[in-house]
Amino acid sequence: MNYYFITGSSKGLGRSLTELLLNDENNFIYGISRTNNINHEQFQHLKIDLTDLDAVKQFQFPELKNATSITLVNNAGIVGDIKYLGNLDCDKIISTYNLNLITPTLLINQLLKTYNNGVKKLVLNISSGAGRSPIDGWNVYCATKAGLDMLSLVFKEEIKNKNLNINILSLAPGIIDTGMQEFIRKADEANFSNIERFIEYKNNGDLADPISTAKLVAKFISDKTLQGNTICSVRDIS
Ligand SMILES: NC(=O)c1ccc[n+]([C@@H]2O[C@H](COP(=O)([O-])OP(=O)(O)OC[C@H]3O[C@@H](n4cnc5c(N)ncnc54)[C@H](OP(=O)(O)O)[C@@H]3O)[C@@H](O)[C@H]2O)c1
Repeated sequence: MNYYFITGSSKGLGRSLTELLLNDENNFIYGISRTNNINHEQFQHLKIDLTDLDAVKQFQFPELKNATSITLVNNAGIVGDIKYLGNLDCDKIISTYNLNLITPTLLINQLLKTYNNGVKKLVLNISSGAGRSPIDGWNVYCATKAGLDMLSLVFKEEIKNKNLNINILSLAPGIIDTGMQEFIRKADEANFSNIERFIEYKNNGDLADPISTAKLVAKFISDKTLQGNTICSVRDIS
């Protein structure tokens, strides 16, 4: 059985990826989010608020029977406050870092401790182009995604040094028509000089639908030839 842990499985990209993977009877998916509306015999929902670090620390990965592969997809993410530094709410800074960067680090660490065996593993961090070039008003979001990229690069070095049967990818998924983009379009122009560009993406039909993006993400999971570069983007193949 191929086991998947997918954070943010309830909406957007995470939901589409979960539904796509459920088409294969050799896959079993644990979806981690606060809400859920997926019902399937190969799916189990784990309800966790991933901004709550105590809850994440207490989470225990389950015992897996007949595992042929284990994949962790750190997908859950939020843009957080779209405001310039100096105007941010302290709690929102913290919850955005928690969800986007600290929780993925905790989950990777815990996954490796729990499944300390030779079973093939993949960690797929869903990053963003915003972690690779700055966008005003997205200070914390950009920092968390840049952090996720660097965490992935360091983990890759550790995997190589220890010759582990694991791979790590930090994949930018492109721009997708999800709740996150809807949230971005509602930002105040005074806090975000690029707002018109993001409104145009929607109006011009430039946003990918989450199902098409999920198919590209799934290719990165299944096709080893796409796993050479730790820092990658769906645009490498689309
Ligand atoms: N959309 C884009 O254009 C775009 C571009 C680049 C990168 N990305 C990245 O792609 C990933 C998915 O984004 P999306 O657009 O699909 O977002 P989305 O539609 O807003 O979905 C976000 C998912 O994260 C979960 N989530 C949010 N807060 C959570 C919390 N506190 N605890 C647990 N789960 C939580 C949500 O589940 P619940 O609400 O049920 O908890 C939901 O399933 C993110 O990492 C994002 O940064 C997106």
